[in-house]
Formats: sequence, C-alpha cells, structure tokens
Amino acid sequence: FEGAGRWVPPGAGLDGLRRAAQDCQGCDLYENATQTVFSSGSASARVVLIGEQPGDQEDRQGAPFVGPAGKLLDRALVEAGIERSDAYVTNAVKHFRFRQEGPGKRRIHQTPDAAQMTACRPWLAAELHIIDPDVIVLLGATAAKALLGPSFRVTRQRGRLIPRPPIDDETSRQNACYVATVHPSAVLRADDRDAAYAGLVSDLKVAAEVLG
Ligand code: URA
Ligand code: SF4
Repeated sequence: FEGAGRWVPPGAGLDGLRRAAQDCQGCDLYENATQTVFSSGSASARVVLIGEQPGDQEDRQGAPFVGPAGKLLDRALVEAGIERSDAYVTNAVKHFRFRQEGPGKRRIHQTPDAAQMTACRPWLAAELHIIDPDVIVLLGATAAKALLGPSFRVTRQRGRLIPRPPIDDETSRQNACYVATVHPSAVLRADDRDAAYAGLVSDLKVAAEVLG
C-alpha cells in the first residue's frame, strides 16, 4: 500500500475530495470496513475538529461522530458556544479499524497504527488546505500525535493554544492554531465522567475564544 496520495484529486473542492475518497485503497483498512467516512461541515467552517477514525456506527452510516461519542461531542460544542455551522468535523483516518470477537462477532475498535495514519494523511492535508480554519481541535492522542508529532502528550498539553505548529504538509496553509483535548469516547469511559466532560467543554472554550 502506497498511501492515499494518488487518490486525492488535485485542485478538487470538498465535494470532489469526498467523492474520490470513496474509492481510496491507500492502506489495508478499506478491505474490511463498510465505507469511507469522510467528514461533515462546510468549507467555510472556522473550526476543524479532528477525531481518530470512524467507529462502528459511523462505519455503518457513513458520517463522522454520529454514535455515542458524537452525541457527547455535540452537547459539549453547544455548551462551549461553538455553532455546529462553524465547525467541520473529520477524522485522522477515514476507515474503521476493528477486530471481530466472540460468538456475536462484535466489532471491537482498534487504534490505527502509524502506517495507516501516514497513509491517510493526504486526505486531511487536502481538507485543511481547502478550509484554512482559524483553529483546529485535536480530539484525543491519535489526532494530536498525527498533527503535532509522536512526543505530544494530551494529558500535559491539553487546553492550551498552540500557535501554528511546524507540520510536514506543504499543502496545508498552516494558518490555524491548535488546541488538543481528550477524545469524547474517553469521556464516556472515564471513572469520573462529569469531571472528564467538564474538561472537554473547558478545552473547547479555548477554541471558541479564538473564534471570538
Ligand atoms: N470516534 C472518532 O474518533 N471519530 C468518529 O467519527 C467517531 C468516533
Ligand atoms: Fe484510504 Fe485512509 Fe481508508 Fe486507508 S484509511 S484506505 S488511506 S481512506
């Protein structure tokens, strides 16, 4: 597998990207997933939120953050004062990675590996280039490491504005600052869910302040 690069249509808009991504075979993940899950939101969005990869529900429905984690994220965005119409929601990896287990063959989420993240990166770079947002919210360690490097630690560096980090995509305009926070799924799994949720909202408010 050679990565998504050769499936990304040069000069395309978001609709063109979304269409082309349906055929991507840039890594092995297309083989077992139902479909490519691209993004939701418009090219005029001022904030981009990046998750890890589609989950079970997203894989079936073909849209990002529509399952339990998405419901929680929607609530947190409202509470932080970020309008859904101002937000573009996408993932670092566009196909669901899972293993199947047990008699019911339940699909268990697996974190994408470094090669899969690298393979899928041209899609994200193309999205960011088109949207050119004011602020990018990194939801969880996978997205944070994908954009800010493997040594980034969400636990230590969350909730702070990170100005225009050096990332390796020349295609990205890199005008946005970044805010990292916990993944909404981690909030759902947390022992103290209320505290974890409050932390997510407070980090999202840091992004909201950039929007003014
Ligand atoms: N988790 C993610 O990271 N992305 C989704 O789209 C859904 C759940
Ligand atoms: Fe292409 Fe990304 Fe899907 Fe891999 S995960 S096949 S690179 S869209």
